[in-house]
Amino acid sequence: MCGIVGYVGGQCALDVVLAGLRRLEYRGYDSAGVAVPADGGLAAAKKAGKLANLEKELAARPLPSGPTGIGHTRWATHGAPNDANAHPHLDNPGRVAVVHNGIIENFAALRAELAERGHVLVSETDTEVVSHLLSEAFSSCGDLAEAMRQVCRRLEGAFTLVAVHADDPDVVVGARRNSPLVVGVGDGEAFLASDVAAFIAHTREAIELGQDQVVELRRDSLDVTVTVTTFEGKDAEVRPYHVDWDASAAEKGGYDYFMLKEIAEQPKAVADTLLGRIDAAGSLSLDEVRIPGPVLREVDKVVIVACGTAYHAGLIAKYAIEHWTRIPCETELASEFRYRDPILDQRTLVIAISQSGETMDTLMALRHAREQGAKVLAICNTNGSTIPRESDAVLYTHAGPEVAVASTKAFLTQLVACYLVALYLGQVRGTKWGDEVRSVVRELSDIATQVDEVLETMEPVRELARSLADKGTVLFLGRHVGYPVALEGALKLKELAYMHAEGFAAGELKHGPIALIEEDLPVVVVVPSPRGRSVLHDKIVSNIQEIRARGARTIVIAERGDEAVRPYADHLIEIPATPVLLQPLVATVPLQVFACELATARGNEVDQPRNLAKSVTVE
Ligand code: M6R
Repeated sequence: MCGIVGYVGGQCALDVVLAGLRRLEYRGYDSAGVAVPADGGLAAAKKAGKLANLEKELAARPLPSGPTGIGHTRWATHGAPNDANAHPHLDNPGRVAVVHNGIIENFAALRAELAERGHVLVSETDTEVVSHLLSEAFSSCGDLAEAMRQVCRRLEGAFTLVAVHADDPDVVVGARRNSPLVVGVGDGEAFLASDVAAFIAHTREAIELGQDQVVELRRDSLDVTVTVTTFEGKDAEVRPYHVDWDASAAEKGGYDYFMLKEIAEQPKAVADTLLGRIDAAGSLSLDEVRIPGPVLREVDKVVIVACGTAYHAGLIAKYAIEHWTRIPCETELASEFRYRDPILDQRTLVIAISQSGETMDTLMALRHAREQGAKVLAICNTNGSTIPRESDAVLYTHAGPEVAVASTKAFLTQLVACYLVALYLGQVRGTKWGDEVRSVVRELSDIATQVDEVLETMEPVRELARSLADKGTVLFLGRHVGYPVALEGALKLKELAYMHAEGFAAGELKHGPIALIEEDLPVVVVVPSPRGRSVLHDKIVSNIQEIRARGARTIVIAERGDEAVRPYADHLIEIPATPVLLQPLVATVPLQVFACELATARGNEVDQPRNLAKSVTVE
């Protein structure tokens, strides 16, 4: 949450920072601001609302520019989203400017202490204390990086901080604890950002910052030096890496919204996630999972932790893991996990699923699991992010950058990764024969084409969505792996269309939810294949009849050729036939398109729904 950019180099810092903020706006859009040391002083501007408001302000009252600058786009935690609480925050003389992502837990005590020393704080934020503390520390040591180290040692909580000082105008300093910050290293220039997307147009060379580290970007004649130290001032190990996607991947590419582009990219994302993980003989090769075979053979319980859409991927993974490996598996909301004192030991494998790799609830859950001796495997889409770094092993999804707040291609690739892990466990533990593994792998390899087929038949779904734009409620029903798909369909609709949407296990209908059914209420039903476990199919057909008899308007997602449901479907959305366990990979796609179109029809911001942020870095 919150996007941060810092720049040092030969270009106009203000332009680079604003372009970076545009790429990070998905992280928060309650307000935006910039600061640049210039003409011996510090110039700053900030505005509530989206970045466009700040840009208007800068067009009306331009700031001078120099070679260094910082910027921020906010997702409000402490204090309302107004101009005063927007970042950057300055000290009283207006010489230092700070932007921040995270929460400073001891800010109230620090604020009281500063007030006693005569500082006047003008916002309700926790951040402002940092600018005042930095100002004091800089006055005594004259070095911004050292001042930052001194201040960070006093802070509690999670934070990324980036600062500039009018008296050291060629320097930008950053610090991180439990919150993301990456360094971009260009030719004669360097960047700090919450996410590589902010500087990918300039460089693909990056440096990961570790926990409790301070980084200084210092401009010296034509070069920029990057120095990384710990909060204690010791030299820190620098871990450079190359970003394997380019600027075009972070552009809309002709689509109206990132979400539409990301939905369309799903066939490729699915195929890319399988790439290199299947050997010439068609078997699984996951050498990158560095947990040794003997350890995996000892595992007697799997626990999956995740949030939101990633949690739904975890719910589906449970079916595959238990079916293919016969190891008991629980899927748990990361935010609940550590507070219930879960039973974990060396034989527990915890799988942490996260697109961003920065979700605080998931990070805290995995830390708790490791403290109890469990092994943690991360499934993640963001190279070098905190969750994979703190895990014992990682399986990266290759979805490419996902910018829209609503997760789509990340979800499908998380599912693919979960299936791969489940099969791999089966392979290593011998609960799946080689030819069985190869057969599922072949079926997985067909999915990209099937998702493509689904995407080509979405016009009636869009039309249906538009016709429902004035409805207040939509319900979603599913059974078996269709149940988490129903939950995911409801989540998409809530976050994008701001409608009351609920997902239920269809078998639960008679235990309460059926009371909600009334005339013309849209109910989306995800129908399992009539092949395979036909008992599930028959039961859900009865459920459809029950709700239809009570007036529901049934929107049925069913396998092509499933004639048994046709008479009961007011709207039939046909999907290709897949094995039962893999059906979520195709069944979810119409629900994404449905939610996106409904949001558009209701005039909502598709990529940046209200109150949300892409990456939730606070608990
Ligand atoms: O980055 P993560 O996968 O850890 O994020 C988890 C959730 O915040 C995320 O899936 C969220 O629910 C999405 N906005 C849903 O579309």
